[in-house]
Amino acid sequence: MQTYTGNTRSPAAMGHRVCLAPMMGYTDRHFRYFIRLMSRHTRLYTEMLTSGALLHGDTRRYLAFHDAEHPLALQIGGSEPRELAQCARLAAEYGYDEINLNAGCPSERVQSGRFGACLMLEPQLVAECVAAMVAVSAIPVTVKTRVGVDQHDSYEHLAAFVRAVAVAGCQAFIIHARKAWLRGLSPKQNREVPPLRYDVVEKLKRDFPELTIVVNGGIQTLQAMHTHLVSFDGVMIGREAVANPYLFADIDRRYFDADAPVLSRTQVLECWLPYVTEELAHGVPLARMTRHALGLFQGCPGVRHWRRYLSEHSGRPGAGIEILRDARCSIQAVA
Ligand SMILES: Cc1cc2nc3c(=O)[nH]c(=O)nc-3n(C[C@H](O)[C@H](O)[C@H](O)COP(=O)(O)O)c2cc1C
Repeated sequence: MQTYTGNTRSPAAMGHRVCLAPMMGYTDRHFRYFIRLMSRHTRLYTEMLTSGALLHGDTRRYLAFHDAEHPLALQIGGSEPRELAQCARLAAEYGYDEINLNAGCPSERVQSGRFGACLMLEPQLVAECVAAMVAVSAIPVTVKTRVGVDQHDSYEHLAAFVRAVAVAGCQAFIIHARKAWLRGLSPKQNREVPPLRYDVVEKLKRDFPELTIVVNGGIQTLQAMHTHLVSFDGVMIGREAVANPYLFADIDRRYFDADAPVLSRTQVLECWLPYVTEELAHGVPLARMTRHALGLFQGCPGVRHWRRYLSEHSGRPGAGIEILRDARCSIQAVA
């Protein structure tokens, strides 16, 4: 039997200090590019893509991304080692920097496919999946999971899961510091109802010091990031990135490069215009991009006008870059 012996890759080399969480319906390539304008170094995660969709669907379209998005991780959902290995090979071929296996999503659709959070109950299967991916892929294979599921929420259960998966070759874990209930709670409730157990994740980091442990769940401020980075190798931000993307504007200067520029909100918009113009020319509807900017002026005077203007005008037939320019002028007038 193999035993876990640790690894020598330094957490810094893995570059997980600040991560944007994978979020279905949000972290598409447009949102990732938008966040990238504010932070060069934040590690970005795609929405979860199932192995079946990737292998049997429009692979090129699913895996497309902008060069500026690096460092970029592809999150995959699945539990079939051979399929996952093919996905890992594709992720590396397309130039992703990491492939991340979803072992934390509790939705019923995902459970019926035998992946997501229910995989926490099958550490050996996850280990096989990871080993299969590691065997064929030159990029790191990581796992995103929870502190437990259902009644299997003891620290020993979590540690045994992590140990088994680490032996298989996973050196970085993203831990959502909540357990998940597989029955009775919706995915949304599973992000709010079970209490946050940062203490459990801290113990995991103490017991597995060689692993990269990224903490996720409920992190909403720079201060909270700062506190967590004392204990963990990295923090992953989900919902707050949608509600208040400008949170990322000060990340590089704080954590990666003291000389990095911090753009103002209107400078972010200015830098975004060429991208939006180009995507419009490729036929991407304006609203598909502007929805990601609704939170940019969170907390500023005029934010309601900004949101309303973008929401009302971006979806109109033929809506073009002038909508974004007008919205910018109007917020500049009141901000
Ligand atoms: C709309 C939405 C979609 C999500 N989709 C995914 C997903 O595709 N894969 C995943 O691992 N987690 C997904 N999550 C969970 C987040 O990655 C994250 O673990 C969770 O929101 C807790 O972090 P937060 O408190 O910073 O939001 C999703 C969360 C939200 C709000």
